[in-house]
Amino acid sequence: HMSPPAFRYQLIQKARAANKRIVLPEGDEPRTMRAAVICTQKGIARCVLLGNRKVILSVAESLGIELPPGLEILEPNQIAERYVAPMVELRKSKGMTSGQALNALEDTVVLGTMMLAVDEVDGLVSGAVHTTASTVRPALQLIKTAPGSTIVSSCFFMLMPEQVLVYADCAVNPDPTAKELAEIAKQSADSALSFGIDPKVAMISYSTGVSGSGDDVEKVRAATKLARDQWPELVIDGPMQYDAATVREVAAQKAPGSAVAGQATVFVFPDLNTGNTTYKAVQRSANVVSVGPMLQGLRKPVNDLSRGALVDDIVFTIALTAIQAEAMAQA
Ligand code: ACO
Repeated sequence: HMSPPAFRYQLIQKARAANKRIVLPEGDEPRTMRAAVICTQKGIARCVLLGNRKVILSVAESLGIELPPGLEILEPNQIAERYVAPMVELRKSKGMTSGQALNALEDTVVLGTMMLAVDEVDGLVSGAVHTTASTVRPALQLIKTAPGSTIVSSCFFMLMPEQVLVYADCAVNPDPTAKELAEIAKQSADSALSFGIDPKVAMISYSTGVSGSGDDVEKVRAATKLARDQWPELVIDGPMQYDAATVREVAAQKAPGSAVAGQATVFVFPDLNTGNTTYKAVQRSANVVSVGPMLQGLRKPVNDLSRGALVDDIVFTIALTAIQAEAMAQA
């Protein structure tokens, strides 16, 4: 089992070793600035704050923090123009003009995403003030899916008392098809592996094995079969109820002989209603720290913050992003 303290420790160690450059489009946002200072001081990542230098320096002064010399500040209006041509090129199938690109680049999330698209940075973290959609959409449009992926999904690392579990997709795809659900299972297993968690994938439903029927169960059954056919090495089972996935006694009754039941580490939910509700229920009612959502299936790493994110949450998200960048570079 990966314990929460071990998870936190390896997050910082792996990020340090990766030594990545991460752009922070909300460069004058106080929690983001504090996180960038911590990441710079601890060597977790080389951070770039996008924002007006005077504003950033005055925010720093009012917060009583000193910006370390390694922490870079880039002024959006001094650099935006150089991304116009590459952006027009990336969006030419949509008929984007230079004027439209220049307008779009006024949004620092779009600007940061273009820096990532042209490889000037290794990853992007935003969302302390922006919505999920405004952080994720530029990535979907400009970074696009990784080779071998057809959709972008997300996962959370749930820091349970005894071990870290992966939940997916709790943030992006409202109603994935069976084929998409199979892909989400594979992406989530890969994410688990990159963070030292042995993936045993439970495809969650309101029915276990062959006991129930209905369109929603059939979708999960079909997704499980598709995933098995496409990735024979994947340890996966479903459809499976949450209790059968996680409690050994229930597993012994409902799914005897399953390699996943009673010991699942990766939980793939059938749709966003289930996934988002379950992660929030566990997080809030059981008081569990959840790290994420971490986007998976993108060509380069972009991660969204919750608007309620604390400074430590942002530090962890920057570390996650750096580790993803390294994993993608190795792939
Ligand atoms: N994977 C890959 N590409 C995608 C995906 C996806 N899942 N979804 C959209 N795209 C691409 C489209 O192909 C399109 O590309 P193109 O412009 O090159 O043709 C582009 O993204 C825009 O597509 P739209 O259909 O316009 O998508 P939109 O931007 O409206 O929506 C979004 C994308 C914002 C992620 C949407 O799926 C969404 O709102 N999901 C739910 C988010 C949410 O509310 N989550 C819960 C809260 S988050 C939380 O609790 C932590």
